[in-house]
Amino acid sequence: MVKWCVVYSSATGNTRRLAEAAAQTLGADLMNVNDILGFLPGSPDADSDLSDMEDSYENLAVIEANRKSLLISAEANLSEVAAKLSKYDCVMVGYWLRRGGPDQRTAVLLSKMSGKRVALFQTHGAYEGSEHAVTAFARAGSLLGSDNTILGTFSCQCAVNPALIKRRLEGKVPGHKGEDLEACKKRWADAEKHPDENDLERMRTFAKKMLVISEKA
Ligand SMILES: Cc1cc2nc3c(=O)[nH]c(=O)nc-3n(C[C@H](O)[C@H](O)[C@H](O)COP(=O)(O)O)c2cc1C
Repeated sequence: MVKWCVVYSSATGNTRRLAEAAAQTLGADLMNVNDILGFLPGSPDADSDLSDMEDSYENLAVIEANRKSLLISAEANLSEVAAKLSKYDCVMVGYWLRRGGPDQRTAVLLSKMSGKRVALFQTHGAYEGSEHAVTAFARAGSLLGSDNTILGTFSCQCAVNPALIKRRLEGKVPGHKGEDLEACKKRWADAEKHPDENDLERMRTFAKKMLVISEKA
């Protein structure tokens, strides 16, 4: 029988709720990314981390520079991550979008994974299927270490931290000048009630599908 684990990163709980639904469906062990990586120098605590609210989601130079510096400074080494994941054939990785890609801890985890069958899921303020959300999957995939196989992806638009919205409305977040604020307000309002029961059910359906695929693979 195929052995799954679900590893998630979550600052405000959206990704955790979906991860719990997935783990239950898969009969998988559920782990927070911090349980695997431990402390990462240069990476503030996930639960209180709004420090990069000053950056634009779309600032590619910042996205890449930040990712590279974190990957380099990551304390967790390859063998530690491999040991913690060694008893699993398949890993579902859940992350939240930040700067248009997986949050920092997940970026590190992905880069340290190898030889696994992987399902990716992400939560974000952007609309599902938007270019922003789809590109984020490409960024997550490009971060993965060697010899992994991606079995599938799942995406969910979810509530955005009100503190971040407040600062955006106050115009305190550089990099968003000239944006259509009315469109942003609509997007935030559309996202506000998610994940809801329907999203959790969609996740259960996705997890069942991943289970079937993994047993065939
Ligand atoms: C600092 C910060 C940066 C964010 N960057 C993005 C982003 O680049 N794209 C996006 O669609 N959503 C972005 N969001 C929204 C979160 O990805 C979304 O609210 C997510 O569901 C949070 O998941 P969590 O509750 O598990 O922490 C950002 C939120 C914060 C607080």
